[in-house]
Amino acid sequence: MKFNRRLVFICGGSDCKKAGSKRIRKELKEAATEGGLKGHCKFFQTKCMDMCKSAPVVIVDGYFCKKADMKSVAEQIKKA
Ligand code: FES
Repeated sequence: MKFNRRLVFICGGSDCKKAGSKRIRKELKEAATEGGLKGHCKFFQTKCMDMCKSAPVVIVDGYFCKKADMKSVAEQIKKA
């Protein structure tokens, strides 16, 4: 049996917050409850991951989305 749920780690450190990780998290949660990502992912907020120069940082099943935006993260969730 294949496990279809993606684990998405969103950095909640100060640099990523300034770069928009809060907004990405909010949009992803909305997409997961009523949009196309419904039932496909589980979100976790992390502390700083020491990659602040690439903020905002989002990890989708082990793939690092550097300078992430909603579009790149959604693509990675669907691809993985
Ligand atoms: S604040 Fe996100 S990697 Fe440092």
